[in-house]
Amino acid sequence: MTDALHFDPNTGIAAIGVQLPPLAMDVRELAALRGVDPDKYTLGLGCDEMALCPEGYGVVDLAVGAAKRALAQWGGSVEDIGLLVVGSESAVDMSRPLSAFVAEELGLRGRIRSYETKHACYGGTVALRQALEWRLSGAARGKAALVIASDVALYAPKDPGEPTQGAGAVAMIIAEPKVARIATESFAYAEPAFDFWRPVGDSFPSVEGKLSLDCYKKATEECFQQLVGDRTPADALADFAAVCFHVPFPKMVKKAVGQLGESFEWTPEATSSFYEGMVNPTMDWNRKSGNGYTASLWISVAQALAGRAAGQRIGAFSYGSGFGSELLVIEAAEGAAAAPWADEVAEDLKSRRLVSQDEYDALRGARLAAAE
Ligand code: COA
Repeated sequence: MTDALHFDPNTGIAAIGVQLPPLAMDVRELAALRGVDPDKYTLGLGCDEMALCPEGYGVVDLAVGAAKRALAQWGGSVEDIGLLVVGSESAVDMSRPLSAFVAEELGLRGRIRSYETKHACYGGTVALRQALEWRLSGAARGKAALVIASDVALYAPKDPGEPTQGAGAVAMIIAEPKVARIATESFAYAEPAFDFWRPVGDSFPSVEGKLSLDCYKKATEECFQQLVGDRTPADALADFAAVCFHVPFPKMVKKAVGQLGESFEWTPEATSSFYEGMVNPTMDWNRKSGNGYTASLWISVAQALAGRAAGQRIGAFSYGSGFGSELLVIEAAEGAAAAPWADEVAEDLKSRRLVSQDEYDALRGARLAAAE
């Protein structure tokens, strides 16, 4: 089977760094605290644990931690970086970009373009595409880009979205494709909607949960139909080893795949086999991080790339409320097999502490007070 995708031999993901925060909570504990049947959170939403930040630790710490890991794996020097982009929806300032806070910690200054991208959970993917296209355009003049997706996802206490909270950051060096190549072509779809938003000054998002699911499903269908084009879905997806999604919570992904199966006129068995074989196995880390907003898709991609043989193909579907979406095609390269970032994630998960109901209450109380 042939397709029209192009993979530049000199540009792709050269290194990946993932950072999860030092605390987490089992959603069953949250269910007990809120007087909810735990099955609603585990079976109904597909959640397991939600990563949490202690007081004084936040989106910048996550971004810097991920960046340091990516830089260490890459082996290049910060002087070789010509672009720093941080995608996030947890901005700490309406004017000063998150990239400036991160650059300060990393000692990055000089002949570099540094900025922040915002488009809900799609912001990290926009940052990645811009870095990729900057390299492909020739504007980079051989320099590398440091792209970071970093977020802390918190809802108002007792909000229905509370069990889907999470946090995390993924940093990627965009330079020689040692870890993965990314197809130059991608498949985007956008439509204005108010499905999830956070007005200026508000600490927590407003969500139309059902509308966001409908928008997400429509975006999935629109992006994958472009990938399929005039082929059959089976042909178009035949050489994919895994398909990663933005993961607000795993059940949302399962529903979107259900919608995709219907639009492809697959039998329920074929849809289920696609979900269980290609999608569900990529969400193990997401079940431990919770929703990392911009980082969520890239946590899934980092997991899917880990240990992969060179040449294996992965789909990466990005969605951000508002809404914008894009499907990327990624191919593992030689460096994916060793996957040092997988050891770092395992270490983060092993060393982090699960908080009790009392601790969670105290943490949220302190955060609410800080936000006022
Ligand atoms: N045992 C098992 N399953 C249960 C259950 C129980 N005791 N109680 C409820 N459930 C199931 C429901 O049947 C439902 O599953 P279904 O949708 O497959 O039918 C699921 O749990 C959720 O229940 P629901 O009543 O719809 O939840 P809710 O009104 O509390 O809302 C969200 C949940 C997730 C929709 C809400 O948290 C939300 O809006 N989250 C944010 C969405 C988001 O992140 N959007 C962003 C952009 S992508």
